[in-house]
Amino acid sequence: MQSYSPCIETYLDHPMKSVRIFLQSMLACCLMYNATVFAAERESEEASVESLQAEIARLNSIMPGQAFAMTQIAYNFSNLWFAAQAENWPLAKFYIDETRVRLRWAMRITPSRRISSGQLDLLPIASSIEDNQVKAVADAVAAQDQTAFRTAYTGLMQACQGCHEASEKAFLRLQIPTAPAEPLIDFSPNL
Ligand code: HEC
Repeated sequence: MQSYSPCIETYLDHPMKSVRIFLQSMLACCLMYNATVFAAERESEEASVESLQAEIARLNSIMPGQAFAMTQIAYNFSNLWFAAQAENWPLAKFYIDETRVRLRWAMRITPSRRISSGQLDLLPIASSIEDNQVKAVADAVAAQDQTAFRTAYTGLMQACQGCHEASEKAFLRLQIPTAPAEPLIDFSPNL
């Protein structure tokens, strides 16, 4: 009689058992393979989340802050005064529109600020200014009315100042500008 190793003999004696062992090893193999694939996938997912987080942190670090947006509002608001003085109404319309757009931008950057008494919601203040004081300036520009413009411009400037005070930055006092922010623009009307 041919002699087999005890192990093989056992297999031969119990064919079902050998099938079961074979299937079990296959299953173990599959599980190990899957575990390796999952681990690799998880590692690459973690790596991409990390790189996204790093990219967000980098973008945050180069994002202009609210103060920078305010300098852009002030740039347009200052030029607006000189455009209206020169009765260059299309230019004045451009500058009041840009003032409005940049005020919205400044609010998106920081919609609410921490002050000593808690949190100050800037958005409702800015919306009210847009609906009232900004609109009054835009109306005066559309009507090409110098007197109405001066009143509306001063009203808007005081409203801006009101928000600086509410934000505990009363030292950011505004005044009628003495020179336009942009020397490169010719303010005289294109007659
Ligand atoms: C809803 C509130 C709000 C309104 C409205 C507002 N500001 Fe401001 N402004 C601020 C805050 C808050 C700061 C300080 C931002 C900071 O410190 O990050 C600021 C800062 C400024 C600065 C200083 C920026 C700098 O870095 O030197 C100027 C200039 C300015 N605002 C002009 C204006 C003008 C002009 C208007 C109106 C057309 C206006 N602001 C409307 C809240 C407001």
